[in-house]
Amino acid sequence: MGHPSHSVDCGSLNDALRLPPICEFELSTQPLPAQRDPLKPLDRQEVLNWLSENVPEKRLNHILRVEETAIKLAQYHDLDWERAAQAGLLHDLAKYFKPKRLLELAKADGLDIDPMDEINPHLLHADVGAIVARDEFGVCDAEVLAAVRNHTLGRAEMSLLSCVVFLADSIEPGRGNTTELNELRKLSRKNLYRAVLQTCEDSMRSLFASRSLVHPRVLQTRNWALQMAQQSIKGDKPKLSSA
Ligand SMILES: [Fe+2]
Ligand SMILES: [Fe+2]
Repeated sequence: MGHPSHSVDCGSLNDALRLPPICEFELSTQPLPAQRDPLKPLDRQEVLNWLSENVPEKRLNHILRVEETAIKLAQYHDLDWERAAQAGLLHDLAKYFKPKRLLELAKADGLDIDPMDEINPHLLHADVGAIVARDEFGVCDAEVLAAVRNHTLGRAEMSLLSCVVFLADSIEPGRGNTTELNELRKLSRKNLYRAVLQTCEDSMRSLFASRSLVHPRVLQTRNWALQMAQQSIKGDKPKLSSA
C-alpha cells in the first residue's frame, strides 16, 4: 500500500522525543535488557543511527515520510503527535530481518503465530519491530508499541493512534500520486475509520486478484473498521453479522 511529495515542517523532531513517565507495557515476561533505562526518553538520533545500519537508504526515507505523515495526521485529528512520531519512526525496524529470525524472535517472545505468519514470516516484521523497539531502545509506551505492531495488518479495536500509523504507512508521499491514493489521503483526514476500511478493502481486492493468501487479521480489521465507520457516520449501533 503506498504515494506524492510535499515538504513538512518537523523541526521539533530534532529534539529528543519524550516518553510518558510510567512504564506500563510488557510484550512478554522477559525483562528489559539490564543496560536500558525504561524511563529514558527515546533518542531519535540513536534510532536513526540504528536504522542507517539496518535498513537501506530507500527504506529509511520511507520511514521518515511515515513519521512526518503520522505527525500531520495526528495533529489534524487532535491526537498525540509525539507518540505518532515515535511509532512512525519505529514502525519498520524489523523490515529487513530474515524470515527465520522473525519467527524465532516472535516465538521467543510468546507471540501467537498464525499459520499465515508461518507461510509468510515477513508479516511478522510489525510485531517483531515492537519487540526491537522495546529491547533495543527501551520503548515502553503501550500505545506506541501497539501502533508499531498494528501498522501492517491493523487489528480490531486498535486505537486512533494505531489507525494514524497504519494509514501513514499507506499514504506517505513516496507511495505515489494515483487518484485512488489521493482519495484515501482525503478520507484519512475526514474519517480515520473509513480510511482504514478503504485500505483493508483495497488490500484484500488486490490479494484476491493475484490469488494470494489473506491474513485473517486484515479481515478482522476490516470488519471492525466497517462497524466503527457506520457508528461514526450515523451515530448508530454497528450492524453485526448473525452468522
Ligand atoms: Fe512495514
Ligand atoms: Fe512502512
